[in-house]
Amino acid sequence: MLTLDDVWPLFGLRLRTPRLELRLMRDDDLPAVVEAVLAGIHPADRMPFDSPWTDAEPEQLARDFAKYHWHLRTTVQPGTWTLDFVVLHEGRVIGMQDVRAENLARTKTISSGSWLTRSAQGQGFGTEMRAAILLFAFDHLAVEAAESSAATWNESSLGVSHRLGYLDDGQTEVEPRPGERNTMQKLRLERENFARPDWSLDVHGAAAAQAELLRP
Ligand SMILES: CC(C)(COP(=O)(O)OP(=O)(O)OC[C@H]1O[C@@H](n2cnc3c(N)ncnc32)[C@H](O)[C@@H]1OP(=O)(O)O)[C@@H](O)C(=O)NCCC(=O)NCCS
Repeated sequence: MLTLDDVWPLFGLRLRTPRLELRLMRDDDLPAVVEAVLAGIHPADRMPFDSPWTDAEPEQLARDFAKYHWHLRTTVQPGTWTLDFVVLHEGRVIGMQDVRAENLARTKTISSGSWLTRSAQGQGFGTEMRAAILLFAFDHLAVEAAESSAATWNESSLGVSHRLGYLDDGQTEVEPRPGERNTMQKLRLERENFARPDWSLDVHGAAAAQAELLRP
């Protein structure tokens, strides 16, 4: 009998670090992930995201969140995709880490975004989960560079990037809320500058994922 992983092989992808497990979000994860969002990610007067999705009322946020993540699955094509990993610590959802590629065969570059529920912040998890997707990208997807961006006030996100070897690469302006401007620091990590962690990543399901993500 076929399993869900046979139908959608990316669900079989698992990245394990010393403390965390990352796997693509499934419908069963939605309640716990939405709870982690509603528990709070950032102070109300500091919007770290380009789009202010955390401003929505709880019920609307839940619906919009589900629709956004269902939509992502339908847009996966070889070389152009967004992987939305749920991040688990001791079996509990603490946040999400995404990885995005566009025309990967040509660009050899990924970008990423992430959040942790507030109680999980400031304990090195953000660095550990970003390191996980970088190890996966550089070592399993033949990626050459990774990009990120964060508001110039977002010291924890910038801290993760700098810790892992990203260098500043210019600035842009965004207006996440009408009339409220954020200066975004762009960052870029070349493969040779990656400050690799002193642990190794356990990857399960890499071959099936490569077939879906890199297929010519
Ligand atoms: C951004 C985020 C994922 C980082 O994860 P984290 O687990 O909190 O960060 P870490 O504990 O791994 O810290 C990373 C680095 O930043 C530093 N740092 C963390 N919080 C900091 C703060 N408030 N001020 C200054 N430095 C800080 C840490 O000291 C560490 O640097 P070091 O390794 O040189 O000591 C998390 O804080 C978060 O979800 N923030 C809200 C959502 C968000 O901003 N998402 C990113 C949008 S671009």
